[in-house]
Amino acid sequence: MGTLSAYDNEWLQRLLAYINEMRGIDFSRYRHATVLRKLELRIEATKTKTYRHYLEHLKSRPEELDSLIAALTIKVSTFFRNPPVFELIGNVVLPELVTEFGFLKIWSLGCAHGQEPYSIAMLALDLMKREEPVDIKILGTDVCDGAIERSFEGTYPEGELADVKKKFLESYFERIVPGPDQRHSQEGMFRVSNQIKSMVRLECGDMLSRLKQRRAKGDRYNLILCRNVLIYMNRFLQSEVVQLVSDILHENGYLVIGESEMLPEGLRGLFAQPFPGIKIFRKKSLAKKEAQGRP
Ligand SMILES: C[S@@+](CC[C@H](N)C(=O)[O-])C[C@H]1O[C@@H](n2cnc3c(N)ncnc32)[C@H](O)[C@@H]1O
Repeated sequence: MGTLSAYDNEWLQRLLAYINEMRGIDFSRYRHATVLRKLELRIEATKTKTYRHYLEHLKSRPEELDSLIAALTIKVSTFFRNPPVFELIGNVVLPELVTEFGFLKIWSLGCAHGQEPYSIAMLALDLMKREEPVDIKILGTDVCDGAIERSFEGTYPEGELADVKKKFLESYFERIVPGPDQRHSQEGMFRVSNQIKSMVRLECGDMLSRLKQRRAKGDRYNLILCRNVLIYMNRFLQSEVVQLVSDILHENGYLVIGESEMLPEGLRGLFAQPFPGIKIFRKKSLAKKEAQGRP
């Protein structure tokens, strides 16, 4: 992709500022090449040709903003995505948190259509069958363009359930039997149970501002998932997000990132990596960090 002229760059900045003003999400801090590529697709689809004309189009057709946000945010997800990570969460992380804290307070940042927080809810519920019940709070946050509505609806194509264990499939999903007028749209679809849905609170919003709000309120979590979303951000935004996550994690709380993601270099010292090769990190306790800093 060639370098933008000063004129195009000026209009690109105005376009990104407009999105930020309207939706509170700053795509100038996302990976530049990806943002440009996705914008080009919308410019082509709307036959507007330049950033300037596209911005005019956007202002006159509010519904285009939804298509643009949908293009700029990649919502691919599945239940129990990357199963070894969920095995460890179910068998080690959640039981440890229950023993240490006596409650589970979990946040899925960039939760797409709810597959991730609902997977966690199934593991937590399964654990409660084996342990003394504890208070469980699970929150899912995603940018608003229908993602959260789809999470509330809780219906998924069979392909997104490929990694769901049989016992969970039987206990927490029902196959949708399409009505005569819905034969095609509902075929091969499953609905997650109301019990699982009721365990998860979902909200629309930009994770950066939500993290800041919750840090200001003194809200704390013992497990945060921020998977397959850092990868779209530039390194400054990645660092800001991971720093905020660390601030609102309890000591010994866990952070999970995507398989192909890395913690920003300057922040790696805040976390231990208890399972070699797996992107599950544990926030170090202050006492430990101080001891390590001593000569
Ligand atoms: C590729 S999906 C990953 C979904 C899930 N975490 C997983 O690993 O399967 C990335 C999600 O992050 C969301 N997202 C991107 N930037 C965001 C932001 N600033 N605040 C909240 N959600 C964001 C996107 O809308 C998308 O649903």
